[in-house]
Amino acid sequence: MTQPLAIVILAAGQGTRMKSPGHAALPKVMHKLAGLPMIGWLLKTAQTLNPEKIIVVVGPDMKELEHFVRPHETVIQEVRDGTAGALRTALPKLKGFTGDVLVLVGDMPLVRKETLEQLVKARGGRSNPAISLLGCALDDPYGYGRLIMGADDILERIVEEKDASPKEKQVKLINTGACCIDGTRLENWLSQIGNDNAQGEFYLTDLPEIAARESAMTRVVMAGDASEIQGCNTRLDLATLESAVQERLRTELMIAGVNLLHPESVYLHHDTQIGAGSLVEPHVFFGAGVKTAENVHIKAFSYLEGVTIGKNAAVGPFARLRPETEIGEEVRIGNFVEIKKSKIAARCKIGHLAYVGDTVMGEDVNFSAGAITVNYDGFQKHKTLIGKNVMVGSNVNLVAPLKIDDGAFIAAGSTITEDVPADALSIARDAAQIREGWAARYRKMQNAAKKKKNPPK
Ligand code: UD1
Ligand code: MG
Repeated sequence: MTQPLAIVILAAGQGTRMKSPGHAALPKVMHKLAGLPMIGWLLKTAQTLNPEKIIVVVGPDMKELEHFVRPHETVIQEVRDGTAGALRTALPKLKGFTGDVLVLVGDMPLVRKETLEQLVKARGGRSNPAISLLGCALDDPYGYGRLIMGADDILERIVEEKDASPKEKQVKLINTGACCIDGTRLENWLSQIGNDNAQGEFYLTDLPEIAARESAMTRVVMAGDASEIQGCNTRLDLATLESAVQERLRTELMIAGVNLLHPESVYLHHDTQIGAGSLVEPHVFFGAGVKTAENVHIKAFSYLEGVTIGKNAAVGPFARLRPETEIGEEVRIGNFVEIKKSKIAARCKIGHLAYVGDTVMGEDVNFSAGAITVNYDGFQKHKTLIGKNVMVGSNVNLVAPLKIDDGAFIAAGSTITEDVPADALSIARDAAQIREGWAARYRKMQNAAKKKKNPPK
């Protein structure tokens, strides 16, 4: 039978090497991957294990982090005196809890659910170890705690890089920082950890040695690949993690039936949803909150955020769709079109060089090249309401607030400031003046002027 589980995430470190500016700098785990803070990735994975509780250890002055992890509990580690110190601050929240305690480090956001499940299963599994610990073999183990193995695959102790002898530094098996501990013994063992080491800190990594004194053993579970245990100390690490996250998200989409022509050039947000059968061309950026139905075609160099797109619609190339926009089924959005906070009903065509903002557009509207909604008067944003089957000609200014009823026709080049009734033509431009022979006379004058400037030699 599996034990009840509590998860403690250690995240009190400030992450100075991230060099985030400001007085109350952004805590390391609040730096984002595909738009979601690192700690968010870890929490999502942690939740899939159905723990009784998740406790996050934070530092002082980390209000934003405390707020983000809600409704999960947080405890504040006032003095950052090491990983064992951090876990100790969580003990009051574990009073009376007799299940297993899974400890995770906040800066290892990409650890997989399956890996954590194995780790939890190993605790209390074969030969009933009191601790199971996630290890990994690395070609370059520099900086990590090294796992010193004893007989029968049992972990003897962990030695930190700064405390390791030259021989111990050769060991390639490292401590990822994740471990699962028998909760009934945790408090007793933590109280035995001292700080007599190179950093003067209370190391959680002393636990296996302390447990061994009481004949309790630690087993190592190996992580599948190095990318999932990749930590984050610098912006360089953040970029490495970002590309790993992007690859994961793209893989999930492709498996779900989305065609990415050149996957590496598509940037996704953690919440991007694209319907099956859709095609995404190269160099498309998805910001927060994009959701498309099936069989949508997103053409190259488009930038989308906060938009829902109906089935069989086509967007781009070079389209910009901004938040609070709804695009209906079979709509065509072409190049150099920007749409903001608007509802575009089915089968509308906004083919080229247009701006549509704060607009509700009925079905089958044709919004031609160079047409724009003039939605801002310098003080307020105003709405444009366009009915069904409206034809908006090229280079039209629709000065909001404005209502154009079903079937109306707006002549090219018009600046429309008054509402247009159904099926009417609205034209607002100067009549053309024709001056016979004017151009010929003009050219003659031009030639004469040229001759005067450059007389024949
Ligand atoms: C730790 C491990 C090391 C392991 C490595 C994996 C110890 C002593 N060492 O080293 O064996 O290879 O992680 O990345 O545990 N934290 C607190 N409060 C503190 C100190 C740290 O909450 O007082 C948190 C940090 O926010 C971080 C995690 O604990 O999320 C690990 O701390 P960090 O300082 O990064 O430990 P490492 O030196 O990397
Ligand atoms: Mg670290």
